[in-house]
Amino acid sequence: MSSTNGGDPLVEVRNLKKYFPIRQGLLQRETGRVHAVDDVTFAVREGETLGLVGESGCGKSTLGRTIVRLLEPTAGSVTFEGRDISSLGPRRLRPLRREMQMVFQDPYAIADEPVSALDVSIQSQMLNLLDDLQQEFHLTYIFIAHDLGVVRHVSNRIAVMYLGKLVELAPAEDLYQRPIMPYTEALLSAVPIPDPDLSHQRERIVLEGDVPSPINPPSGCRFHPRCRYMTDICREVEPPLADYGNGHLAACHHPLNVDKATLAQVTVSKRHTPAAADERAKPQTPGKEEAHPIPE
Ligand SMILES: Nc1ncnc2c1ncn2[C@@H]1O[C@H](COP(=O)(O)OP(=O)(O)OP(=O)(O)O)[C@@H](O)[C@H]1O
Ligand code: SF4
Ligand SMILES: [Mg+2]
Repeated sequence: MSSTNGGDPLVEVRNLKKYFPIRQGLLQRETGRVHAVDDVTFAVREGETLGLVGESGCGKSTLGRTIVRLLEPTAGSVTFEGRDISSLGPRRLRPLRREMQMVFQDPYAIADEPVSALDVSIQSQMLNLLDDLQQEFHLTYIFIAHDLGVVRHVSNRIAVMYLGKLVELAPAEDLYQRPIMPYTEALLSAVPIPDPDLSHQRERIVLEGDVPSPINPPSGCRFHPRCRYMTDICREVEPPLADYGNGHLAACHHPLNVDKATLAQVTVSKRHTPAAADERAKPQTPGKEEAHPIPE
């Protein structure tokens, strides 16, 4: 299932934002906002499985719920088969609800952590079942999970979120072979490797500190307080989503697993980059050059 499906876009999410107001006091004044999903753009192709991963609280469920309009978007749009559904009223939304489900139904589904509480053998049976259903009914999935272990073998592409932002999007195998954004590297380092020798050799990156509050997210790159490659620019400038070829996008000033020649050819994706990021801030300096692929 890991081949890249080249179908037409079924769902297109553009500059989607979902902020939750925080109200306090007798008058219930708005005193702040949770930036749960903050200017996210991507498409899901017909027949593909898009894995959506990130730590607890990074906005995965909110993104899923906003796409199927269980939540109203604060800004941005969602199109389904080319139709903008972000402003449809309940009556015109109803027939579409049959086609878009949070749980699996045709032709498109958001499966929000369907297997994370199950033991390993039942997990793999469930994943096989989802796969069979997909073949049989030509379903399209957005598959939400905390960790990169579960989604590897079911996803065609994987999207990584951090504090409301899309930070990396890539064909699944490419993401495992050459994670570019340091947060993805850290998530990958937590995926168990069955081979004890390889497992022993591998460096486990422990992320310091908790996920910062999405009410006042960190400036610049939201990952900077926890990133070991952080420099001054990371604190000040939100990195744009840069295109590393083969559909691999990442938002980082000091990309990993990219050599100088590739870096020189990188372009900034105007389409995917959030408005708050600086489109001129094309990455110049790699974080490190050698690759640390995770074996099958
Ligand atoms: N209805 C709500 N009102 C206010 N804040 C909310 C609401 N729903 C979610 N949030 C906040 O939005 C942020 C994103 O939450 P969300 O549930 O989307 O994360 P998640 O990635 O699905 O996390 P988990 O892996 O724990 O399921 C969190 O800070 C959460 O507290
Ligand atoms: S932009 Fe800077 S802080 Fe953010 S992930 Fe890249 S190196 Fe780390
Ligand atoms: Mg969730």
